[in-house]
Amino acid sequence: MAAVVYFSSASNNTARFVEHCAFDSAGIHTARIPLRATDEPLQINEPFVLICPTYGGGDATKAVPVQVKRFLNDPANRRWIRGIIASGNTNFGEAYAAAGPIIARKCHVPLMYRFELMGTGSDVRAVREGLIKFFTHATEPTQPQDRP
Ligand SMILES: Cc1cc2nc3c(=O)[nH]c(=O)nc-3n(C[C@H](O)[C@H](O)[C@H](O)COP(=O)(O)O)c2cc1C
Repeated sequence: MAAVVYFSSASNNTARFVEHCAFDSAGIHTARIPLRATDEPLQINEPFVLICPTYGGGDATKAVPVQVKRFLNDPANRRWIRGIIASGNTNFGEAYAAAGPIIARKCHVPLMYRFELMGTGSDVRAVREGLIKFFTHATEPTQPQDRP
């Protein structure tokens, strides 16, 4: 099984992007990291790709939303992350989608894609098709020659 985990603040740009990707119709679950600290924390038990917007306005220590840090700080969640897709706004210049490389480095996973705000139609197609292919390969049984 495979999942897309995402965070989206009250402005909901990332939530709209995920909705446009219609992952569920391709057999990919979606799960949203809760906004409020009082909400039930999200627990994940299957391989997932994280879609994360950037905050902090250029302050690298705040680029990854606290809700996402809390989710990834749980080793039982972190062990399942397979890739990161980051979003942001190019108005922030060098800090554009800065959450992506930070999470990629900390979790040792590839930065797979970046998009602005709620993404364009072409971003939606690229991410939907890319993740369908990625998860097909990621869940294929290993070939005998791949074994040590
Ligand atoms: C206070 C604030 C700080 C932001 N800082 C950055 C930033 O440093 N880099 C960036 O690329 N985008 C930044 N953004 C843009 C958000 O990443 C962008 O609006 C994103 O689509 C928000 O996603 P959401 O609506 O799902 O929370 C910032 C937005 C706000 C409101």
